[in-house]
Amino acid sequence: WGVDGHLIVCQIAQARLSDAAAKAVDDLLPSDAGGNLSSLCSWADKVRFRYHWSAPLHFIDVPDNECSYSYDRDCKDEEGVKGRCVAGAINNYTSQLLTYGSSSPSPSSKSSSSGQYNLTEALLFLSHFMGDIHQPLHVGFASDKGGNTIDVHWYRRKTELHHIWDVNIIQTAEKDYYDEDAGKFVDALNKSIKGAWLDKVQEWEECAKNQTACSDIYGSESIAAACDSAYKNVTEGSTLGDEYFGSRLPVVKLRLAQGGVRLAATLNRIFGESKP
Ligand code: ADE
Ligand code: ZN
Ligand code: ZN
Repeated sequence: WGVDGHLIVCQIAQARLSDAAAKAVDDLLPSDAGGNLSSLCSWADKVRFRYHWSAPLHFIDVPDNECSYSYDRDCKDEEGVKGRCVAGAINNYTSQLLTYGSSSPSPSSKSSSSGQYNLTEALLFLSHFMGDIHQPLHVGFASDKGGNTIDVHWYRRKTELHHIWDVNIIQTAEKDYYDEDAGKFVDALNKSIKGAWLDKVQEWEECAKNQTACSDIYGSESIAAACDSAYKNVTEGSTLGDEYFGSRLPVVKLRLAQGGVRLAATLNRIFGESKP
């Protein structure tokens, strides 16, 4: 997602944090963030070039026309190093954050530091990657780099299919329905989470026994939505407008809501219970 997509995911999550998770988040965030996660949810994109090792951690490439995802087959970088994809990153930063408060800090470090990891960065990466794994084209086909190499028009403007899903659908929705205010988009999604989607929210939050984050589920859902919705009836040079916007916006809304609900559920699992 672009800045607004990540902001929306993190604002939905912030309002759903348990007291314990909100306290840990406030402790780990830089003090100028005021305990507010959403101000820093695009930090991982800003450091993408400074921390060049982090670039492959934003997505998963699956074999062309393979509308499924498998961790063992697909979670690797372009050199084939295992675990270097957005699902591996979610698992890694989740397990780093589980060390929060568990080791006796050295006298010079602040109380939140485990010494071994930078848990502030772990929190910012996890919050960002939980958003990205819910963007359908962040689990896309290898040959077109998740739609990054598919040139299309968004109404009259030239862009790439990937960018339409990161930015344009959200931006157009904000213009058409929400007074160009991302906060109003968040309010509308929160209404659906407490209304039309209420029955489903518990399923979204669930994770297999003994797992803290369920990246396999999120990744599989994304490639399915990429095939059924994002890539569907699109070819190089297509012009995408009202019909595409109207039929794909519900998918974007669902994935933003699921990302926010699951980020909160994951942080609540990480920080919610006392650990030995
Ligand atoms: N680069 C290569 N594949 C990508 C994808 N699926 N999403 C974003 N960036 C990518
Ligand atoms: Zn993207
Ligand atoms: Zn990203």
